[in-house]
Amino acid sequence: PTAIIIDSKGGQYEIEVEIGQNLMEAATDQGIDGIIGECGGVMSCATCHVYVAPEWFDKLPAVGDIEESMLDVARDPQDNSRLSCQIEMTEELDGIVVHLPVSQF
Ligand code: FES
Repeated sequence: PTAIIIDSKGGQYEIEVEIGQNLMEAATDQGIDGIIGECGGVMSCATCHVYVAPEWFDKLPAVGDIEESMLDVARDPQDNSRLSCQIEMTEELDGIVVHLPVSQF
C-alpha cells in the first residue's frame, strides 16, 4: 500500500508502507525530510506530526490519551492532527493522504 505526503509548500511524495508498518517509519526510511520521528515512535517527540486529510481521518482508530497529550504540545495542532508513528498501515488505508505542518519541511 502507499501513502501520499504533501508538504506545506505543495510538494507531493508517494511512499510505500507495508501492512502493519507505521507511517513515520516508512517516511523516514524513504527520506521524507518533514517527518523526523526523533523518539523512534514512542510518542515523546511529536516530530512526526501530520494533518490527516478529512476523508481519511475517520478511518483511523481513535487518538489515544498519550497521543492526545503529545498533540497538545505539537506546533499548530488541528482537529485532524495525528502522530504519524501511531498510524499503522492497513488494506483500508491504501492511498491515505497526510499533510505536513508548516513547521516541518
Ligand atoms: Fe516521536 Fe511519533 S515519532 S511521537
